[in-house]
Amino acid sequence: MNTQPKHIAIIMDGNGRWAKKRLMPRTVGHARGAANVRHIVKTAHAMGVRYLTLFAFSSENWRRPPEEVSALMGLFLQYLASEVAEMRAAGIRLRVIGDRSAFAPLLQSRIDQAEHDTADNDGLHLTIAANYGGQWDVLTAVRAWQAAHPERSLQELDPAGLATHLSTAELPDPELLIRTGGESRISNFLLWQTAYTELYFTDVHWPDFDDAALNKAVQWYAQRVRRFGRTDEQVLQPYSAEHHPSTALVIEKDIKIG
Ligand code: IPE
Ligand code: IPE
Ligand code: MG
Repeated sequence: MNTQPKHIAIIMDGNGRWAKKRLMPRTVGHARGAANVRHIVKTAHAMGVRYLTLFAFSSENWRRPPEEVSALMGLFLQYLASEVAEMRAAGIRLRVIGDRSAFAPLLQSRIDQAEHDTADNDGLHLTIAANYGGQWDVLTAVRAWQAAHPERSLQELDPAGLATHLSTAELPDPELLIRTGGESRISNFLLWQTAYTELYFTDVHWPDFDDAALNKAVQWYAQRVRRFGRTDEQVLQPYSAEHHPSTALVIEKDIKIG
């Protein structure tokens, strides 16, 4: 049995289909989705989850109709305006990852302000991925590493070195990734960071993803055997480590995958 995940990442998908099923515009689905973000953040915090990372807008979502994109930007602004004071008081630290330079100046400054206002908090670490792409993150990290070490060759770059330049450098990798909305793909979310993450796919659309649905995902996670490349026997018989030090008990901090 695994203990409760410290870091849960969620691809919040299915807002549009949630609305369509009810003969409503897609933007209504997004508004309901935003309301559910408020709810799930509170629930995760109350459960004692330390890190929650939510995929809100991908680098590919600019391809959507302009009205839908601007409705999403409006919801993001509204979310920041209505939630940050409460987050600050509740001990939630907000980070936004992704290329924010593409956002309107007002949204950029509200994001900066929200991060600043909650920077001293150490309760739940809430990370919103907006204009985020996993490929962008890895490429940006490689370039940043090179810029930070102009005297070194790229041949010297290793996984740990790269990870320190990812947008998630301050966060542990997620143990559990949930995708709502019925699709079984990553859609350019945390590509590097999910190397050994347990992937949970559910048909529930994001606006309907409630406490019971979150609990079900966490229960599912608890049953997974995490081998990190080792065999079942190595993982399930930790005492063998005494006799064979090379088959040490799987300790997460001990795996830096690359
Ligand atoms: C997820 O819901 C929200 C965003 C991608 C911004 P969708 O809008 O993708 O909903 P579906 O997949 O069309 O149902
Ligand atoms: C992934 O959902 C991005 C977010 C949830 C923000 P999409 O709806 O954009 O994914 P695809 O296009 O179906 O892969
Ligand atoms: Mg979708």
